[in-house]
Amino acid sequence: MGKRWVYCAVIVGMALPVAWGANERIKLETANLRVEYAVTKANVLELKAVGLRDGSWTSPLGGRLFPFEPAAEPAGNNNGPRYAGPIEWRLPNGDRAIEMVYQSHAVKEERPGVRHLVIQLRDKVYPLEVELHLRAYAEVDVFEQWQVVKNGLGQPIRLPRLDAMYWHADAKTPIFLEWYASDQKDTAGYPIREQLGRGTRLLESRDGNRHKHGPVPAVVLGFGQQPHETEGPCMIAALDWTGSSRFGFEINSTQILETGIGVNQPGQPVVEAGQSAASPVCVFTLSGKGKGPASRRLHDWARNHFLANGKRLRLVDNNSWEGCGLKVSEDAIIQMMKDSAELGIELYVLDDGWFGNGKEARVNTRSGLGDWQFNSQRFPHELDAVMKAADQLGIEFGIWFEPEMINENSQLFKQHPEWVMRHPNRAFSKQRTQMALDVANPAVQKFMFDAVDRVLTKYPRIRFVKWDANSNINNGYSPYLAPERQGDLLNAYMDGYLKVMRALTEKHPNVDFQACAAGGGRADLGALRYSHTFWPSDDTDPLYWLGAQWNFSNFLPANTITSHVTHKGKGFEPKFRVDVSMMAQLGMEVDTRKCTPDYLDACRVGIATYKQVRDIVQLGDQYRHAHPFDSATPSMNYVSKDQTRGLVLAYQTGSVAKTAEFSAPVSGLDPERMYRCTEVNLPEGDKRPRVAAGCKPSQSGKAWMEDGIPLQFTRQFDSAAVLLEAVR
Ligand code: DGJ
Repeated sequence: MGKRWVYCAVIVGMALPVAWGANERIKLETANLRVEYAVTKANVLELKAVGLRDGSWTSPLGGRLFPFEPAAEPAGNNNGPRYAGPIEWRLPNGDRAIEMVYQSHAVKEERPGVRHLVIQLRDKVYPLEVELHLRAYAEVDVFEQWQVVKNGLGQPIRLPRLDAMYWHADAKTPIFLEWYASDQKDTAGYPIREQLGRGTRLLESRDGNRHKHGPVPAVVLGFGQQPHETEGPCMIAALDWTGSSRFGFEINSTQILETGIGVNQPGQPVVEAGQSAASPVCVFTLSGKGKGPASRRLHDWARNHFLANGKRLRLVDNNSWEGCGLKVSEDAIIQMMKDSAELGIELYVLDDGWFGNGKEARVNTRSGLGDWQFNSQRFPHELDAVMKAADQLGIEFGIWFEPEMINENSQLFKQHPEWVMRHPNRAFSKQRTQMALDVANPAVQKFMFDAVDRVLTKYPRIRFVKWDANSNINNGYSPYLAPERQGDLLNAYMDGYLKVMRALTEKHPNVDFQACAAGGGRADLGALRYSHTFWPSDDTDPLYWLGAQWNFSNFLPANTITSHVTHKGKGFEPKFRVDVSMMAQLGMEVDTRKCTPDYLDACRVGIATYKQVRDIVQLGDQYRHAHPFDSATPSMNYVSKDQTRGLVLAYQTGSVAKTAEFSAPVSGLDPERMYRCTEVNLPEGDKRPRVAAGCKPSQSGKAWMEDGIPLQFTRQFDSAAVLLEAVR
């Protein structure tokens, strides 16, 4: 093959042409990782190497990125396996073949440490182009990958599948999968672990606008062994998409694993002539030493490069839902705000029940959704009196919305029945007696924006919006889209949702948004693009929660995971509940008027403790030790970025006959420094220090990491929180 001229960046923002020869590699590297491609003589793009930059480990990923259809002849007899490939299209003449040939590539340094590779490909026969994008974040060792299809045909094409990420891998050495359910009957609490075997393994969510009943759109792959915290090579991949997703794995007869990650399209989106379509982004990282380092890389990437205000400390909140349900009113909220402020809570959140009037008042879940006017009986002064009280108390205020949804019993439904998704001539399917609006419709998008914006503009003191979504797209037909464009529904809905979120976050940059979707249904990067936290589950039993937030922490940082202290579950002392919630963004969800003084006292101490260590948890490095699913003494520790402070959290979940001794592991300290050890979060009146009497008051980081923290647990569901502070 002769020399081809391609573009390769050498200075920030500029692409300069360099000579490209047959055996050269197209490379993108981070501090520790590398991805390399090559182009064959026939101009076919291949993935050549994905692994550690120092060459100490190379993953089994590699092979053709765009399998030919009709198939090329691999060994001269064309008898090899047929691959699904990363793209499916339907051309106007019915042709679905894809013969992708390399054209050129360019690397641009978008800003220091962030490089963006674009590889241009083109179909051999038709003017259909594909761009493969790979962006590398050097300092955090994270890549983003996505694809764009450009339709130069002069006629529309259909695009039922456009994966964000696709690869082959040699599966002769076993490949293991770990994945997580979102939140369906407690299933998010334990990891689902399997070895990939012959045939297809498909992780699909089909909810449309969320993934409440499906897997969270993120997986961990272990190469040669089941993913482990500190050992063995692994890869974490997470999709920046909150709707239906599809993670497909197939090991074929030649022991090659074919993996495709992307949107689970319910139909066939159209790409008009001259237009292009982009897949969502898939974010991935690798590690030669287990998923702990991989998770920490993703946490840093999310906080430094992805989340809006990724390093803004999340506030300690109290939410009205679990304590009050729909029974909220001005007087009740002001009283609970007062109690909350006294406990040290920084943000009070008024959940569902504040809106709708008359027969459509939101006094049950059958009515009111869509009528975003204050209930004049419950809030006669709208939020005027509440805001005045918040001002006096020095507490921030937040409010609940569910803008994508509607109840049939609402004014909105009477005014705009055409704004609701519904199959023509068919009855509605309802979920929690509600339906999803036709978010593909720009008029609906404007309505959603206005509903939230009106309240935030009138009350600029509001610091937080909980954005709920309690129904799937169950009536998957958009009255707005033309019949022949129904295949665009999911993309158009998601575009609409994101457009509204982007506009709101741009206009109200001081407001933190929380992605809820009934708990767990939006535990993903797609929702977190414009949200600051997410709500993991309505099952707030601390034991279940411990496992769920543990799982989510594999790919999301602690400052995005809200964790509420409540009354759910039996046999738990408030200290245990607080220690569980300390692992993430701690808050409460109680009716303070119904709590016992002991419960409130323990929470007061817990909240004060959390504020003292919050920056370590929310912004530091997280080291998970034994998982609650695997061990009766799960534990983890956090270390501040400057390694001057650490927090150890340890739990006793098994039964204890008398006293259980446990040495809680510690990682990530500076081995040379001396650290003082102090037990924290001991409620007044709790006379049982968990740190064992013989524990050294201070020693070097090296010694703490070798010895662990000696703990004594005297009951089931006991727990300990221990602060390590550098003294020199
Ligand atoms: C479901 C959420 O998960 C709850 O926290 C609460 O906000 C309710 N919706 C309100 O209807």
